[in-house]
Amino acid sequence: MAHPVFRPRRLREKPLLRKLVRETTLGVDDLLYPLFAVHGRGVREAIPSMPGQARLSVDELVKEVKDVAGMGIPGIVLFGLPAEKDPRGSEAYAEDGIVQQAVRAVKDVVPDLLVITDVCLCQYTSHGHCGLVEGGTVRNDPTLELIARVAVSHAEAGADMVAPSDMMDGRVGAIREGLDEAGYAETPIMAYSAKYASAFYGPFRDAADSAPQFGDRRSYQMDPANGVEAMREIALDLDEGADIVMVKPALPYLDVISRAKAEFGVPLAAYSVSGEYAMIRAAGRLGWLDEERAMLEALTGIRRAGADIVITYFARDVARLLERGGLGG
Ligand code: PBG
Repeated sequence: MAHPVFRPRRLREKPLLRKLVRETTLGVDDLLYPLFAVHGRGVREAIPSMPGQARLSVDELVKEVKDVAGMGIPGIVLFGLPAEKDPRGSEAYAEDGIVQQAVRAVKDVVPDLLVITDVCLCQYTSHGHCGLVEGGTVRNDPTLELIARVAVSHAEAGADMVAPSDMMDGRVGAIREGLDEAGYAETPIMAYSAKYASAFYGPFRDAADSAPQFGDRRSYQMDPANGVEAMREIALDLDEGADIVMVKPALPYLDVISRAKAEFGVPLAAYSVSGEYAMIRAAGRLGWLDEERAMLEALTGIRRAGADIVITYFARDVARLLERGGLGG
Protein backbone atom coordinates (compact mmCIF):
# COMPACT_ATOMS: atom_id res chain seq x y z
CA MET A 1 0.00 0.00 0.00
CA ALA A 2 1.75 3.21 -1.18
CA HIS A 3 1.26 6.22 1.05
CA PRO A 4 1.10 9.67 -0.52
CA VAL A 5 4.16 11.78 0.26
CA PHE A 6 2.42 15.05 -0.37
CA ARG A 7 -0.83 15.37 1.47
CA PRO A 8 -2.64 18.62 0.67
CA ARG A 9 -4.99 17.82 3.52
CA ARG A 10 -2.23 18.60 6.06
CA LEU A 11 -2.75 22.31 5.48
CA ARG A 12 -6.52 22.00 5.69
CA GLU A 13 -6.68 20.48 9.14
CA LYS A 14 -6.88 23.62 11.27
CA PRO A 15 -8.68 26.90 10.72
CA LEU A 16 -5.58 29.00 11.37
CA LEU A 17 -3.48 26.88 9.01
CA ARG A 18 -6.10 27.34 6.33
CA LYS A 19 -6.04 31.04 6.98
CA LEU A 20 -2.23 31.11 6.81
CA VAL A 21 -2.11 29.65 3.30
CA ARG A 22 -5.23 31.34 1.95
CA GLU A 23 -4.45 32.90 -1.44
CA THR A 24 -7.32 35.32 -1.84
CA THR A 25 -8.81 37.84 0.51
CA LEU A 26 -12.15 39.56 0.31
CA GLY A 27 -12.09 42.74 2.33
CA VAL A 28 -14.44 45.61 2.77
CA ASP A 29 -11.73 47.79 1.13
CA ASP A 30 -12.29 46.01 -2.17
CA LEU A 31 -15.98 46.79 -2.44
CA LEU A 32 -18.11 49.45 -4.06
CA TYR A 33 -21.82 49.76 -3.34
CA PRO A 34 -24.33 50.82 -6.04
CA LEU A 35 -27.23 53.10 -5.06
CA PHE A 36 -30.30 54.45 -6.89
CA ALA A 37 -31.36 58.07 -6.41
CA VAL A 38 -34.89 59.34 -7.13
CA HIS A 39 -36.60 62.72 -6.88
CA GLY A 40 -38.78 63.55 -3.88
CA ARG A 41 -38.42 63.54 -0.10
CA GLY A 42 -38.65 60.68 2.34
CA VAL A 43 -38.82 58.17 -0.53
CA ARG A 44 -37.56 54.66 0.17
CA GLU A 45 -39.07 52.47 -2.48
CA ALA A 46 -38.18 48.78 -2.23
CA ILE A 47 -37.05 47.13 -5.47
CA PRO A 48 -38.97 43.84 -5.67
CA SER A 49 -36.49 41.98 -7.87
CA MET A 50 -33.55 43.09 -5.67
CA PRO A 51 -34.63 42.33 -2.08
CA GLY A 52 -32.76 44.55 0.37
CA GLN A 53 -32.21 47.35 -2.19
CA ALA A 54 -34.32 50.48 -2.59
CA ARG A 55 -34.69 53.61 -4.65
CA LEU A 56 -33.89 56.50 -2.36
CA SER A 57 -34.64 60.19 -2.43
CA VAL A 58 -31.60 62.35 -1.72
CA ASP A 59 -32.46 62.89 1.98
CA GLU A 60 -32.76 59.11 2.50
CA LEU A 61 -29.67 58.44 0.42
CA VAL A 62 -27.66 60.73 2.65
CA LYS A 63 -28.66 58.65 5.72
CA GLU A 64 -27.72 55.50 3.85
CA VAL A 65 -24.28 56.74 2.83
CA LYS A 66 -23.40 57.70 6.39
CA ASP A 67 -24.04 54.10 7.26
CA VAL A 68 -22.06 52.83 4.28
CA ALA A 69 -19.09 55.07 5.13
CA GLY A 70 -19.28 54.02 8.78
CA MET A 71 -18.91 50.40 7.72
CA GLY A 72 -15.63 51.19 5.98
CA ILE A 73 -16.93 50.68 2.44
CA PRO A 74 -14.71 53.00 0.36
CA GLY A 75 -17.28 54.22 -2.15
CA ILE A 76 -20.61 54.14 -3.89
CA VAL A 77 -21.65 53.95 -7.53
CA LEU A 78 -24.56 56.32 -8.12
CA PHE A 79 -27.42 55.78 -10.55
CA GLY A 80 -30.33 58.16 -11.00
CA LEU A 81 -33.96 58.03 -12.06
CA PRO A 82 -35.05 61.27 -13.70
CA ALA A 83 -38.39 63.06 -13.26
CA GLU A 84 -38.86 63.22 -17.03
CA LYS A 85 -37.40 61.24 -19.89
CA ASP A 86 -36.87 62.63 -23.39
CA PRO A 87 -35.20 61.42 -26.60
CA ARG A 88 -31.90 63.18 -25.77
CA GLY A 89 -31.79 62.18 -22.10
CA SER A 90 -31.52 65.84 -21.04
CA GLU A 91 -31.73 65.24 -17.31
CA ALA A 92 -28.58 63.13 -17.48
CA TYR A 93 -26.50 66.28 -18.02
CA ALA A 94 -28.70 68.87 -16.26
CA GLU A 95 -27.05 70.86 -13.51
CA ASP A 96 -29.93 70.04 -11.17
CA GLY A 97 -30.33 66.46 -12.42
CA ILE A 98 -30.94 63.79 -9.82
CA VAL A 99 -27.40 62.39 -9.81
CA GLN A 100 -25.89 65.88 -9.70
CA GLN A 101 -28.08 66.70 -6.66
CA ALA A 102 -27.24 63.42 -4.99
CA VAL A 103 -23.48 63.87 -5.52
CA ARG A 104 -23.55 67.32 -3.93
CA ALA A 105 -25.57 66.10 -0.96
CA VAL A 106 -23.35 63.08 -0.34
CA LYS A 107 -20.15 65.09 -0.68
CA ASP A 108 -21.56 67.58 1.80
CA VAL A 109 -22.25 64.99 4.47
CA VAL A 110 -19.50 62.40 3.98
CA PRO A 111 -16.81 64.17 1.94
CA ASP A 112 -14.35 61.30 2.21
CA LEU A 113 -16.60 58.61 0.79
CA LEU A 114 -15.74 58.05 -2.88
CA VAL A 115 -18.63 59.00 -5.10
CA ILE A 116 -18.46 57.33 -8.48
CA THR A 117 -21.16 58.11 -11.02
CA ASP A 118 -22.52 55.89 -13.73
CA VAL A 119 -22.32 57.80 -17.00
CA CYS A 120 -25.00 56.71 -19.44
CA LEU A 121 -28.22 57.88 -21.05
CA CYS A 122 -30.50 54.84 -20.79
CA GLN A 123 -32.31 55.81 -17.58
CA TYR A 124 -32.94 59.27 -19.06
CA THR A 125 -34.01 58.58 -22.64
CA SER A 126 -37.65 57.97 -23.56
CA HIS A 127 -36.56 55.10 -25.84
CA GLY A 128 -34.41 53.55 -23.11
CA HIS A 129 -31.26 53.19 -25.22
CA CYS A 130 -27.80 54.22 -24.07
CA GLY A 131 -27.27 56.54 -27.03
CA LEU A 132 -29.09 58.84 -29.43
CA VAL A 133 -31.55 57.09 -31.71
CA GLU A 134 -31.92 58.17 -35.31
CA GLY A 135 -33.77 56.21 -37.96
CA GLY A 136 -34.36 53.36 -35.54
CA THR A 137 -30.68 52.79 -34.75
CA VAL A 138 -28.43 53.88 -31.92
CA ARG A 139 -25.97 56.38 -33.36
CA ASN A 140 -22.43 56.32 -32.06
CA ASP A 141 -20.69 59.60 -32.82
CA PRO A 142 -23.55 62.01 -32.07
CA THR A 143 -23.85 60.31 -28.64
CA LEU A 144 -20.24 60.99 -27.67
CA GLU A 145 -20.76 64.69 -27.08
CA LEU A 146 -23.71 64.02 -24.76
CA ILE A 147 -21.87 61.33 -22.81
CA ALA A 148 -18.96 63.75 -22.30
CA ARG A 149 -21.43 66.38 -21.07
CA VAL A 150 -22.86 63.91 -18.55
CA ALA A 151 -19.38 63.16 -17.22
CA VAL A 152 -18.43 66.84 -16.95
CA SER A 153 -21.68 67.67 -15.14
CA HIS A 154 -20.96 64.90 -12.63
CA ALA A 155 -17.43 66.19 -12.08
CA GLU A 156 -18.81 69.72 -11.60
CA ALA A 157 -21.17 68.37 -8.93
CA GLY A 158 -18.15 66.87 -7.16
CA ALA A 159 -17.93 63.25 -8.33
CA ASP A 160 -14.61 61.60 -7.46
CA MET A 161 -14.67 59.37 -10.52
CA VAL A 162 -16.89 58.81 -13.54
CA ALA A 163 -17.84 55.41 -14.91
CA PRO A 164 -19.14 55.30 -18.51
CA SER A 165 -21.38 52.28 -19.16
CA ASP A 166 -22.89 53.19 -22.52
CA MET A 167 -20.50 51.15 -24.70
CA MET A 168 -20.28 53.68 -27.52
CA ASP A 169 -16.95 53.48 -29.37
CA GLY A 170 -14.62 56.31 -28.43
CA ARG A 171 -16.50 57.45 -25.34
CA VAL A 172 -13.56 57.21 -22.97
CA GLY A 173 -11.54 59.51 -25.23
CA ALA A 174 -14.46 61.93 -25.56
CA ILE A 175 -14.95 62.01 -21.78
CA ARG A 176 -11.22 62.48 -21.11
CA GLU A 177 -11.14 65.41 -23.51
CA GLY A 178 -14.30 66.90 -22.02
CA LEU A 179 -13.04 66.59 -18.46
CA ASP A 180 -9.61 68.00 -19.30
CA GLU A 181 -11.07 70.99 -21.12
CA ALA A 182 -13.43 71.72 -18.23
CA GLY A 183 -10.55 71.69 -15.73
CA TYR A 184 -11.02 68.16 -14.38
CA ALA A 185 -7.79 66.62 -15.58
CA GLU A 186 -7.43 64.91 -12.19
CA THR A 187 -10.81 63.14 -12.30
CA PRO A 188 -10.26 59.45 -13.09
CA ILE A 189 -12.35 57.30 -15.43
CA MET A 190 -13.47 53.80 -14.55
CA ALA A 191 -14.58 52.39 -17.89
CA TYR A 192 -17.13 49.61 -18.25
CA SER A 193 -14.81 48.22 -20.94
CA ALA A 194 -15.99 44.65 -21.42
CA LYS A 195 -19.70 45.07 -20.86
CA TYR A 196 -21.74 42.22 -22.23
CA ALA A 197 -25.33 42.22 -23.54
CA SER A 198 -26.52 40.23 -20.54
CA ALA A 199 -29.80 38.82 -19.25
CA PHE A 200 -28.36 39.33 -15.77
CA TYR A 201 -29.16 43.08 -15.93
CA GLY A 202 -32.89 42.25 -15.71
CA PRO A 203 -33.51 43.29 -12.08
CA PHE A 204 -31.49 46.50 -12.56
CA ARG A 205 -33.68 47.55 -15.47
CA ASP A 206 -36.70 47.20 -13.17
CA ALA A 207 -34.88 49.20 -10.51
CA ALA A 208 -33.73 51.93 -12.85
CA ASP A 209 -36.64 51.77 -15.27
CA SER A 210 -34.13 51.59 -18.11
CA ALA A 211 -35.31 48.75 -20.35
CA PRO A 212 -35.06 49.62 -24.06
CA GLN A 213 -38.46 50.43 -25.52
CA PHE A 214 -37.61 48.71 -28.81
CA GLY A 215 -35.01 46.14 -29.78
CA ASP A 216 -32.17 45.31 -27.40
CA ARG A 217 -28.62 46.42 -26.62
CA ARG A 218 -26.81 43.89 -28.77
CA SER A 219 -25.70 46.48 -31.32
CA TYR A 220 -23.49 48.14 -28.69
CA GLN A 221 -22.94 45.77 -25.75
CA MET A 222 -20.68 42.76 -26.28
CA ASP A 223 -21.63 39.31 -27.47
CA PRO A 224 -21.43 36.95 -24.45
CA ALA A 225 -19.56 34.41 -26.58
CA ASN A 226 -16.54 36.67 -27.10
CA GLY A 227 -13.40 36.73 -24.96
CA VAL A 228 -10.65 37.91 -27.32
CA GLU A 229 -12.78 40.90 -28.24
CA ALA A 230 -12.95 41.87 -24.56
CA MET A 231 -9.16 42.28 -24.56
CA ARG A 232 -9.46 44.56 -27.60
CA GLU A 233 -12.14 46.66 -25.85
CA ILE A 234 -9.95 47.00 -22.78
CA ALA A 235 -6.89 47.93 -24.86
CA LEU A 236 -8.91 50.62 -26.66
CA ASP A 237 -10.20 52.11 -23.40
CA LEU A 238 -6.70 52.18 -21.93
CA ASP A 239 -5.41 53.92 -25.06
CA GLU A 240 -8.17 56.50 -24.69
CA GLY A 241 -7.20 57.19 -21.09
CA ALA A 242 -9.19 54.83 -18.84
CA ASP A 243 -7.67 54.62 -15.35
CA ILE A 244 -9.61 51.55 -14.21
CA VAL A 245 -11.17 49.02 -16.55
CA MET A 246 -14.15 46.83 -15.82
CA VAL A 247 -15.63 43.48 -16.75
CA LYS A 248 -19.39 43.16 -16.38
CA PRO A 249 -21.21 40.94 -15.38
CA ALA A 250 -18.77 39.07 -13.16
CA LEU A 251 -19.73 35.45 -12.43
CA PRO A 252 -20.42 34.25 -15.99
CA TYR A 253 -17.22 36.04 -17.15
CA LEU A 254 -14.55 34.95 -14.65
CA ASP A 255 -12.34 33.83 -17.54
CA VAL A 256 -12.50 37.34 -19.00
CA ILE A 257 -11.55 38.86 -15.62
CA SER A 258 -8.64 36.48 -15.31
CA ARG A 259 -7.38 37.16 -18.83
CA ALA A 260 -7.73 40.91 -18.40
CA LYS A 261 -5.66 40.85 -15.20
CA ALA A 262 -2.95 38.70 -16.82
CA GLU A 263 -2.78 40.69 -20.06
CA PHE A 264 -2.96 44.24 -18.78
CA GLY A 265 -2.07 44.28 -15.10
CA VAL A 266 -3.98 47.53 -14.59
CA PRO A 267 -6.54 48.23 -11.85
CA LEU A 268 -9.46 45.99 -12.67
CA ALA A 269 -13.04 46.18 -11.47
CA ALA A 270 -15.74 43.55 -11.84
CA TYR A 271 -19.43 44.38 -11.55
CA SER A 272 -21.37 41.61 -9.90
CA VAL A 273 -24.66 42.69 -11.39
CA SER A 274 -28.27 42.75 -10.24
CA GLY A 275 -29.08 39.28 -11.62
CA GLU A 276 -26.16 37.70 -9.75
CA TYR A 277 -27.42 39.33 -6.57
CA ALA A 278 -31.04 38.35 -7.22
CA MET A 279 -30.16 34.69 -7.85
CA ILE A 280 -28.32 34.28 -4.57
CA ARG A 281 -30.90 36.27 -2.60
CA ALA A 282 -33.81 34.35 -4.11
CA ALA A 283 -32.32 30.91 -3.58
CA GLY A 284 -31.37 31.95 -0.04
CA ARG A 285 -34.91 33.07 0.70
CA LEU A 286 -36.30 29.82 -0.62
CA GLY A 287 -33.94 27.94 1.67
CA TRP A 288 -32.25 26.34 -1.32
CA LEU A 289 -28.78 27.43 -0.34
CA ASP A 290 -26.94 29.15 2.49
CA GLU A 291 -27.11 32.75 1.36
CA GLU A 292 -24.16 34.11 3.35
CA ARG A 293 -21.81 31.34 2.29
CA ALA A 294 -22.91 31.56 -1.34
CA MET A 295 -22.40 35.34 -1.27
CA LEU A 296 -18.88 35.10 0.13
CA GLU A 297 -17.92 32.24 -2.19
CA ALA A 298 -19.16 34.10 -5.28
CA LEU A 299 -17.42 37.36 -4.36
CA THR A 300 -14.20 35.60 -3.33
CA GLY A 301 -14.27 33.80 -6.69
CA ILE A 302 -14.44 37.14 -8.47
CA ARG A 303 -11.41 38.33 -6.49
CA ARG A 304 -9.54 35.07 -7.15
CA ALA A 305 -10.17 35.51 -10.88
CA GLY A 306 -8.25 38.79 -10.66
CA ALA A 307 -10.64 41.63 -9.85
CA ASP A 308 -9.13 44.28 -7.59
CA ILE A 309 -12.46 45.99 -7.07
CA VAL A 310 -15.83 44.27 -6.77
CA ILE A 311 -18.98 46.29 -7.30
CA THR A 312 -21.75 44.50 -5.45
CA TYR A 313 -25.21 45.04 -3.98
CA PHE A 314 -24.00 42.73 -1.19
CA ALA A 315 -21.38 45.26 -0.03
CA ARG A 316 -23.21 46.09 3.20
CA ASP A 317 -23.96 42.45 3.95
CA VAL A 318 -20.29 41.58 3.45
CA ALA A 319 -19.17 44.46 5.64
CA ARG A 320 -21.53 43.36 8.43
CA LEU A 321 -20.42 39.77 8.14
CA LEU A 322 -16.72 40.63 8.23
CA GLU A 323 -17.34 42.93 11.17
CA ARG A 324 -18.64 40.00 13.16
CA GLY A 325 -15.58 37.98 12.17
CA GLY A 326 -16.74 36.30 8.97
CA LEU A 327 -18.10 32.79 8.79
CA GLY A 328 -15.15 31.27 10.63
CA GLY A 329 -12.74 28.71 9.18
C1 PBG B 1 -26.62 51.40 -17.70
C2 PBG B 1 -26.25 50.30 -16.79
C3 PBG B 1 -26.82 49.02 -16.66
C4 PBG B 1 -26.20 48.43 -15.56
C5 PBG B 1 -25.27 49.33 -15.08
N1 PBG B 1 -25.30 50.46 -15.87
C6 PBG B 1 -27.92 48.38 -17.38
C7 PBG B 1 -27.82 48.06 -18.81
O1 PBG B 1 -26.79 48.23 -19.47
O2 PBG B 1 -28.87 47.67 -19.33
C8 PBG B 1 -26.52 47.07 -15.00
C9 PBG B 1 -26.22 46.88 -13.55
C10 PBG B 1 -26.83 45.70 -12.92
O3 PBG B 1 -27.50 44.86 -13.56
O4 PBG B 1 -26.63 45.55 -11.71
N2 PBG B 1 -26.20 51.28 -19.01
